[in-house]
Amino acid sequence: VLSTTDQTSKLPLPPGSMGWPIIGESLNFISKPTAFYNDRRTKYGRVYKTHLLGQPTIRVIGAENVQKILTHEDELVTHRWPSSTRTIMGENGVIHSGGAEHNSRRIAIAKAFQHSALSTYVPEMQETVHNFIRTWCDKGRILGYPECRTLAFSITSKVLLGCDFTQSKDVEEALANFEDNLFSFPVNIPGSGLHKGIKARNFLLTKIDECISRHKSGSQSYPSALGLLLSQSPQGSLSQTELRNIALELLFAGHQTTASAACCLMMHLGKKTEVVDRIAEELYDRHLFQEANFNTQLNLDAISELRYLSQVVREVLRINPPVGGGFRKVLKTFDVDGMQVPKGWTVTYSIRDTHETTNFFQQRDKFDPDRWNAIQGDSQEVKYNYLPFGAGARGCLGKEFAKLILKILAIELVRNCSWRLLNASPEMKYLPVAYPTDNLPIEFSSAP
Ligand code: HEM
Repeated sequence: VLSTTDQTSKLPLPPGSMGWPIIGESLNFISKPTAFYNDRRTKYGRVYKTHLLGQPTIRVIGAENVQKILTHEDELVTHRWPSSTRTIMGENGVIHSGGAEHNSRRIAIAKAFQHSALSTYVPEMQETVHNFIRTWCDKGRILGYPECRTLAFSITSKVLLGCDFTQSKDVEEALANFEDNLFSFPVNIPGSGLHKGIKARNFLLTKIDECISRHKSGSQSYPSALGLLLSQSPQGSLSQTELRNIALELLFAGHQTTASAACCLMMHLGKKTEVVDRIAEELYDRHLFQEANFNTQLNLDAISELRYLSQVVREVLRINPPVGGGFRKVLKTFDVDGMQVPKGWTVTYSIRDTHETTNFFQQRDKFDPDRWNAIQGDSQEVKYNYLPFGAGARGCLGKEFAKLILKILAIELVRNCSWRLLNASPEMKYLPVAYPTDNLPIEFSSAP
């Protein structure tokens, strides 16, 4: 039962520092975000206050605390990312909308990620992954993280937008500028992060308009999420303005997250040859790895039956969740761990800190896909101790899409090549997503 506002407003605020007037602790956060979060978790524990990017903020860690936030959307909390993020990303999509508008946009977008739609994306995903892996084998040595970023860029532009931007370095650079400046001081002057982010946004929107025109003229050759949403739009609920903004959001939401997960997948497989062997065994058992059949065309149903592989992907996302957490605006004062979360403040729920501190998983730091044999993946109990995709009314719309890419990547890697990490224990950074600071140098060869 939730406490009333009267009672909760008498509770103490969480520990923490509000930093300097106006800028708060933003400078520490922007310059060293990973250290920022780690230091405060050590110092203050599961709930603490700070002042970030213009907002008094409370950060919340731990399953029960996170659950309180994720299950009271539009009642205790609503969307609120920093103002720079809202300006750069635009407010006509799903991420920065609330209430009925948010709900109806979600329902429309979800159609592009249901089973029937996903199955049409598999051939393009597989071909793209396959071609990248061939190039990695030809190169011999690669840097895993930048390669995964380009791979994710290629797949998301093709399969989400229906436009192949793989060779368009200007689009890839604009997306990087867009992503790198989402968390900036809210000052729009030439040279500022916000200014660069807005410029990148405008450029990307012109490219999205080109994709929309190509779809309308019927010159697109493979199925895509945007194509599907456009084909529904005359009768559907999305206006042209919403569609453009949503296309941009999907690119943002799907690119770095998937790149991070793909890179961490290669890292964990590179560390554990026994896991690679088990994936190969499962592929043999399912007739997806015969001698004459290395590059069998995959389909969604065959991929969905690969239980061990699914556990591997789940485990990668548990140990290295790409996204650190989410932002919300507090609508009504409430309590967490006996402390006050005041109305009007920002509250951020933490995914990584929750994964790293939960006692729900035994030997939680160990990479062990078999742990999932004994765990009901979608039980309530696991839901808030394991939340790489968030949960509730704002949970990830692209999670099946992302997991599909990761599974195809693992299958194609195991069937087509072997690889060796040149540094098996790289240091990790966690913002904007989880990635190895040395970019994960890897040596590839063609023999599986
Ligand atoms: C939301 C994670 C891939 C589309 C989210 C949230 C998380 C997340 C944690 C919730 C944020 C919050 O609570 O504020 C991930 C991870 C991915 C991934 C870890 C890859 C491994 C994708 C992909 C797409 C996508 C590929 C699109 C195809 C979205 C959208 C939302 C979202 C549209 C916003 C939903 C809303 O506000 O209602 N994602 N995501 N994500 N994700 Fe993903």
